[in-house]
Amino acid sequence: MLWACRVGKILRPSYSLDGCPAPRRLDGSVLAARFATASAGKSGTVRALVTKLEQASALDRVGDRLQRAVQATLRPQRVRDLLHGVWLGHPLHPAMVQVPVGAWISAAIVDLLPGQRRAATALVAVGTASALPAAVAGLNDWAGLARDQRRVGLVHAASNAVGVAFYAGSLAARLRGRHGTGRALAYLGLSAASAGAYIGGHLAYKQAAQVSQSVSELHRMGDEWQAVADLAALPERKLITREVDDVSVILYRHGDDVTVMLERCPHQSGPLGQGEVQEIGGHACVVCPWHGSAFRLNGGEVVHGPAATDQQLLPTRVVDGVLQTRLP
Ligand code: FES
Repeated sequence: MLWACRVGKILRPSYSLDGCPAPRRLDGSVLAARFATASAGKSGTVRALVTKLEQASALDRVGDRLQRAVQATLRPQRVRDLLHGVWLGHPLHPAMVQVPVGAWISAAIVDLLPGQRRAATALVAVGTASALPAAVAGLNDWAGLARDQRRVGLVHAASNAVGVAFYAGSLAARLRGRHGTGRALAYLGLSAASAGAYIGGHLAYKQAAQVSQSVSELHRMGDEWQAVADLAALPERKLITREVDDVSVILYRHGDDVTVMLERCPHQSGPLGQGEVQEIGGHACVVCPWHGSAFRLNGGEVVHGPAATDQQLLPTRVVDGVLQTRLP
């Protein structure tokens, strides 16, 4: 009877069963509010947990060692630039993870269909094999992050490593003909990889790892022309720092050409105005004093990472000997 009463309350909340107290009617808005409160509570807890990782200094011992190992292993600079995505103009890691994620999700769907064992095995194999280069590119980016970002990134990497281990086990089981075990391990792998993706989302969108740190500066600038310097007073081939609407920019004069570039480094906001000018590949480049990213002064293109995005230049004109700039 007790069970019947409970079922009655759950399944038919607006009707009374014989012998049961009449349940209170819950209208749609009350149910929606309760559901929203419960969901917000759970997601708030998860968010709070992931945010706590940013301050988890206990992770630093492992993180610092791993960082040194990654920096010692991934050499020379050309290899690091390749993995950062300097050639692409965007970080390479997020693009590379599309392959394992796509293959694993496809395998999860195919595993639900009859007679698709070979297809599922092939998808798990592709996903597992492609996870390795994606992880190497991710580690290369991770080694150049700030400490709070590295802590979260470490847990992101650990979740994904657990996911890869499950998928490797799944593949081994499938190849031995144990498809039931292979399916179960694959779903565990997908769960671990999904947790890793959530933490990676926090790293990218909340902590802004590998996101251009400079371009948001543009939102603080007006779009009218503004004077920044007397052209005749600008020294040749020297970096000069100026403010435009409280946004710091660097000026670099080469003959009659003057570059106006945002000063804040797109990688981690380093002060490019305190960097060196170096000739790289036949072009004058500014080298960030913090982690060595280099940007062409005649176009803003990134030449060396860890930054993977170009630096923003501002348009210029000279009126009555005065250099002016404005929003692009
Ligand atoms: S802040 Fe890292 S390279 Fe500039």
